[in-house]
Amino acid sequence: MDAKIVVLAGDGIGPEVTSEARKVLEALGKRFSHSFNFDEQLMGGIAIDTVGNSLPDATVEACRSADAILLGAVGGPKWDNPNAKDRPERGLLGIRKALNLFANVRPVKIHPQLVSASTLKEEVLQGVDMIVIRELTGGAYFGPRQEAGDAAFEAYDTMLYTRPEIERVLRTAAEMALARSKKLTSVDKANVLASSRLWRRVATQVLAEYPDLQVEHVLVDAMAMHLIRHPASYDVIVTENLFGDILTDEASMLAGSMGMLPSASLGDIMNSRQLPLGLYEPIHGSAPDIAGQGISNPLATILSAAMLLRHSLGLEAEAAAIEQAVDAVLNEGVRTPDVAHTGSEVVGTPVMGDLVVQKLLQQ
Ligand code: IPM
Ligand code: MG
Repeated sequence: MDAKIVVLAGDGIGPEVTSEARKVLEALGKRFSHSFNFDEQLMGGIAIDTVGNSLPDATVEACRSADAILLGAVGGPKWDNPNAKDRPERGLLGIRKALNLFANVRPVKIHPQLVSASTLKEEVLQGVDMIVIRELTGGAYFGPRQEAGDAAFEAYDTMLYTRPEIERVLRTAAEMALARSKKLTSVDKANVLASSRLWRRVATQVLAEYPDLQVEHVLVDAMAMHLIRHPASYDVIVTENLFGDILTDEASMLAGSMGMLPSASLGDIMNSRQLPLGLYEPIHGSAPDIAGQGISNPLATILSAAMLLRHSLGLEAEAAAIEQAVDAVLNEGVRTPDVAHTGSEVVGTPVMGDLVVQKLLQQ
């Protein structure tokens, strides 16, 4: 198969982790006779520095005509001036919106070998295997706002949702839950927020159309607690944008490190294979504190590449091959520093990538 993959390496550790994922995809392409054409485009802080715009038109056009997009991370202290007209994060939110990527799928699975890397007790982590679906193109991230200038007295963001925006992401979540354990948890703050009361009402109506599902509604503050108290009792969780942002950082600690968790952002635009044009990225940020040192964990991005193969290219066997190669490396006790523990062999970013490639070719 021929596939066009746009790579948005971005800032901080973005370039180093995406280059490992590319390496893995290239090796996989050779093994399974696929040709992946990588098209590197600018987005984020690097795009501000190079062309003066965090999301150049050329990048949006390239993404629209791609089969899938692989993204590293954006942002860093260099672009943190609160008065700046453009910010790296604007590029990321802009591409999510431009491609209508309304469902952000974040699987949280704990690798048995990494239990000791988590700060939580082993018995709490037993059996954790969930998917958080975060609404990605609505809510406070995109609602009307007033920015505080230097002299401004007030500023606000608006958590705005429409019925169709809520309905479509709930349907995505319902389909995913049906394909798994049929348990769906919808998270809101309906005891306080109007947008959450709409969310709850729409959820109650829409999910009634899926009688096979076992549905529960949980308030977001309680969910933050349950996630670390008994995480194994959840399977598919669906929530609005900001709540999902916060809960998935929390959930990443179940897996030991943010460096382990991939994500897929899917919408309704189909690619040349009639599959969703998706954007795949690790859930971690640009980690400017460790950028350029070659110690970042590329596994979240490599696992994002596996999700890309599965959801946008329909290559299930190839996706599973990457996931197995990652498992095999972890089973040997090899770790990047973020998940290292006593007895593990600590390696840097490129060696971790090489080892995954090696395992892929040995399968
Ligand atoms: C994420 C990140 C982004 C977000 C930032 C970088 C804008 O935290 O993907 O979770 O808040 O969505
Ligand atoms: Mg986040």
